[in-house]
Amino acid sequence: MAVMASGCSAEEALIDGLFTPVEWEKVQTLSPLPEVPEDTTNRYADDPNAAALGQRLFFEKGYSGPIAVGGAESGALGEVGETGRVACASCHHGTWLIDHRSTPNNASLGTAWIPRNANSVINAAFYEPWIENDGVSDSLWSDVLVDPELNIAMDGSRLQVVHVLWEKYRDEYNAMFDPDLDADLDPASENADRFPATGKPGSEEWDRMTAEDQETVTGIYVNFGKAVAAYLRLLVSREAPFDRYVAGETGAIGEDAKHGLQLFVGKAGCVACHSGSHFSDDEFHVNGLAPAGPNINPEELGRATAIDNVLKNPFNSDGIYSDDRATGRLEGLKKTEEAVGQWRTKGLRHIAETAPYMHTGQLETLRDVVTFYNTGGHATGFVGVKSDKMKPLNLTDEEIDHLVAFLETLTGAPVDEALREDTSAR
Ligand code: HEC
Ligand code: HEC
Repeated sequence: MAVMASGCSAEEALIDGLFTPVEWEKVQTLSPLPEVPEDTTNRYADDPNAAALGQRLFFEKGYSGPIAVGGAESGALGEVGETGRVACASCHHGTWLIDHRSTPNNASLGTAWIPRNANSVINAAFYEPWIENDGVSDSLWSDVLVDPELNIAMDGSRLQVVHVLWEKYRDEYNAMFDPDLDADLDPASENADRFPATGKPGSEEWDRMTAEDQETVTGIYVNFGKAVAAYLRLLVSREAPFDRYVAGETGAIGEDAKHGLQLFVGKAGCVACHSGSHFSDDEFHVNGLAPAGPNINPEELGRATAIDNVLKNPFNSDGIYSDDRATGRLEGLKKTEEAVGQWRTKGLRHIAETAPYMHTGQLETLRDVVTFYNTGGHATGFVGVKSDKMKPLNLTDEEIDHLVAFLETLTGAPVDEALREDTSAR
């Protein structure tokens, strides 16, 4: 799609008859999706054996604790009190690894309700470095360590993880990591009481352990996180019709979508936040969403709370478990008034497949989303101060349709089916 030689009329100078050179330059910043960025904080990040073990652990339910919201609640994973019912895959499943089970499906139900909608974990490795909608983790591996011990997600503990590794994945673990799993994890060992069945920092069982044994367990838990993160890094989807269009295949997307793309980089202003080939600036904004819907928490402060949490997280990139403590990811980070009510800009690849939308899952369709932006976000009812990038857009009905048509061209090839197979040990 070369620009026509000079001397042609202004109309002919447009790329594909539509885009000015300035617009086209913006379009080109959105494609193609490069390789997954390296993560020096995880020395196993690109180890295929770690990823294979990580996949098994992603589908493993054995380290989850008691169901608190269960039984008749629709979408529940078991009866109240039952254990071993929740895997990562319980909330990240299907072709795009989202939650199709929780009903109503705005928030996600594990051992209890998480007040947010489960993200697709496909292409999550492109967020740099902030993971989750509030950016509570500064690496993928440290993020993996949140849910197993989070009471409303899996309500398990690092001791449970370690016991499951011993019982079911011992050989693979020992082949990967140094040192081998401690032989006293064997329930038949006469010193088996060194490692209680369950426990995490703050629990009574944990406090009864020696500091050295606590350190052993936490070290194994970190390796668990790094293995699962290696798996998550393989979950990549690229080559959407949009990418083929930018690469020069003029017919890869329809005329409506082309107009939508022009709006996206122009009048609708989306690219001010949804920038780069992952369609996220990796920043945090108040886009003026008044939280609504069942099982959510309308008071959540988003980024402001997450900043406190990431700074005190022993698993952050500056901490002793990080394989590179000099990334500077946390440099200068501090809680500010501005961070109150901010959420991370979501990537938009395969967005047509991952409804409902926003961290609360309160918008059902892409049309609902674009209509929301068309009014400049909600007028009131949101936390924080709305970004000055949010303005009423005055889009016509047809323009709204075109933007939706564009968003629908962002779906790339699904990840290999083998990566979505439940390979957990029975
Ligand atoms: C009970 C449902 C549930 C379970 C179980 C669960 N997740 Fe999630 N996951 C979510 C929700 C909800 C979010 C969005 C949370 C947020 O914004 O804080 C999320 C977000 C994520 C993200 C962030 C993606 C992004 O866009 O930054 C990753 C990575 C992830 N989960 C991995 C995992 C792994 C690994 C496990 C298992 C150890 C797991 N999840 C277990 C519901 C779940
Ligand atoms: C001020 C920055 C900003 C602008 C401008 C902006 N967005 Fe967003 N967008 C965000 C943030 C932040 C989120 C996540 C909000 C949340 O999770 O509550 C988001 C979420 C979304 C989502 C939902 C993603 C998901 O997986 O749930 C879609 C779709 C979307 N934006 C499309 C657009 C379109 C189309 C435009 C232009 C009309 C636009 N955005 C303009 C910041 C912005």
